Amino acid sequence: MNAPIILLLLDITPMLPVLEGVVMELQDCALPLLREVIATDKEEVAFKDLDAAILVGSMPRKEGMERKDLLKANVAIFRSQGAALDKYAKKTVHVLVVGNPANTNCLIAAKSAPSIPKENFSCLTRLDHNRACSQVAMRCGVPATHVKNVIIWGNHSSTQYPDVHHCKVSMSSGELACFDAVKDDSWLKGDFIATVQQRGAAVIKARKLSSAMSAAKAICDHMRDIWSGTPEGEFISMGVYSTGNPYGVPEDLIYSFPVQIKDKAWKIVDSLAINDFSKSKMDATAAELMEERDTALAFLAA
Ligand SMILES: NC(=O)c1ccc[n+]([C@@H]2O[C@H](COP(=O)([O-])OP(=O)(O)OC[C@H]3O[C@@H](n4cnc5c(N)ncnc54)[C@H](O)[C@@H]3O)[C@@H](O)[C@H]2O)c1
Ligand SMILES: *[C@@H]1O[C@H](CO)[C@@H](O)[C@H](O)[C@H]1NC(C)=O
Ligand SMILES: *[C@@H]1O[C@H](CO)[C@@H](O)[C@H](O)[C@H]1NC(C)=O
Repeated sequence: MNAPIILLLLDITPMLPVLEGVVMELQDCALPLLREVIATDKEEVAFKDLDAAILVGSMPRKEGMERKDLLKANVAIFRSQGAALDKYAKKTVHVLVVGNPANTNCLIAAKSAPSIPKENFSCLTRLDHNRACSQVAMRCGVPATHVKNVIIWGNHSSTQYPDVHHCKVSMSSGELACFDAVKDDSWLKGDFIATVQQRGAAVIKARKLSSAMSAAKAICDHMRDIWSGTPEGEFISMGVYSTGNPYGVPEDLIYSFPVQIKDKAWKIVDSLAINDFSKSKMDATAAELMEERDTALAFLAA
């Protein structure tokens, strides 16, 4: 990928002075492909003719704020940004939602942009995916690139299900199934899952700030794969709109699936065998998302 890039940065008005600092840092990176940076507080400027949109800004939880109120504030933001995409962006725009609750925000944005195909909206679970790859790689003593086909199912939250039943690890002895490479089933079915599910909170506890570098890397991985496709025989995780799928995931959710990407179109990997252990974890995270969707859609209709 060596296409020149124009970056449009949107923030709320009180943050414009801070955004100027971000513009300065971007200029100071002397990035080879960056042609122009435009900072604005106006959606009609920020969303004009976009090829790609990365929606990062959302309402953070404040002291004493109820979950419902937080969701309501985010529905308002993503309805507005979805409508602005609908009005100003190219119809071929690829939209990646990062701001939390990412899955539900993505669904609201997609529903608020009826003239853009729902397939063009996705949410970020690549950070969770990368975390899972790295945990397995460290355990096996191999580089992260030697681990492929982990899956993150469901919501980008602690109910997500990091699944290694189809994961392969390249060891010096050759390519092995993850369970054979790790040789510790109880770790893979216990602490491994918990570590990936709670990694975001662990980073916040240590840094007193949420993941920044790793999130930015995951965003780059996600967008690069949309543009360039996934390697033959490999899949990655992203939150996409569920319609008919062989895994019994309910329709009309943004749910993280294993996908392969070719010619800028994703396809859910549909041939994987799912055991009862996996199925119950996939159902639990779907149940959480359905409840959140129904609350959010009530706000959207109001
Ligand atoms: N899905 C993931 O894997 C993942 C990973 C990391 C962070 N996140 C989420 O991404 C979001 C951003 O994280 P961060 O660490 O960059 O937060 P941050 O607070 O540093 O930055 C958020 C920015 O968004 C701006 N913003 C708020 N409302 C806006 C609006 N209506 N329009 C435009 N801009 C608006 C804020 O002013 C702020 O500058 C959070 O919700 C975080 O939880 C998700
Ligand atoms: C988005 O929409 C366009 C057609 O409008 C299509 O070419 C593109 O591949 C779509 N898919 C994704 C995943 O964004
Ligand atoms: C889904 O995940 C998001 C992001 O972590 C979280 O904010 C939200 O509360 C989760 N949904 C539910 C219903 O728990």
